[in-house]
Amino acid sequence: MSVPAAGTGVRSATRARIAARTLRTDRWWQPPLLTTLGLTVFVVYATIRSFVRTAYWVEEYHYLTPFYSPCVSASCVPGARHFGTWVGELPMWIPLAFLSLPFLLGFRLTCYYYRKAYYRSIWLAPPACAVAEPHARYTGETRLPLLIQNSHRYFFYAALVISAINTYDAILAFHGAGGGFGFGLGNVILVVNVVLLWAYTVSCHSCRHVTGGRLKHFSKHPLRYRVWTFVSRLNTRHMQLAWTTLGTLMITDFYIMLVASGTISDLRFVG
Ligand code: FES
Repeated sequence: MSVPAAGTGVRSATRARIAARTLRTDRWWQPPLLTTLGLTVFVVYATIRSFVRTAYWVEEYHYLTPFYSPCVSASCVPGARHFGTWVGELPMWIPLAFLSLPFLLGFRLTCYYYRKAYYRSIWLAPPACAVAEPHARYTGETRLPLLIQNSHRYFFYAALVISAINTYDAILAFHGAGGGFGFGLGNVILVVNVVLLWAYTVSCHSCRHVTGGRLKHFSKHPLRYRVWTFVSRLNTRHMQLAWTTLGTLMITDFYIMLVASGTISDLRFVG
């Protein structure tokens, strides 16, 4: 890791003169390293799966992977178009979930937890407490591009809509092979994923502000106070939910890919 030039960053005149990069003797580098690895695995997997355009829909049981939802172009298989066909064929470089992916990406990238994660692990600003950072200047989130982080609350509203769409997909998936009601392991995975996605979305710091912010007296708003209390409790688990939902998204997609490609059969309980 590089160090800033003399007179800048942690080597500026007003900072304590400590020659060592850090005096910490523990494995401070482990958390940022694990975070980098975890985020890389997800980004690589999600990017590949979003572009391959295969094994994303199980016609028999109406399972649609969240990576392709909503599927609203003529390039989607007809059954997967739960909301109709809005546009014609898409070139291969545009993912079929082009409507939701930019907002999902924006929601996660600007999330307060993920900021902490990638500021530390990827930008090393700083990599850990009491470890010198390599940057000469710090402008925080007051300038482009990091100024965009302030748009998180708008991505939160979009994420609510996308969670509703995923919920609708999960409900439609209660479909039997011969038509009518059906229920299999795929449904369990889809429902668990959608419940956790709601938990992650609702535990958002912006949601906490939307439900309980700008109030002078909680006593005059008992309903908002109850909702805010619930969101605040969930909010303490936001980091865990952020990671868990990355895992459940990949598991859901992977399971549907295996069933859709005929690699395994869905374990059916009904229909
Ligand atoms: Fe993480 Fe809003 S703070 S999703």
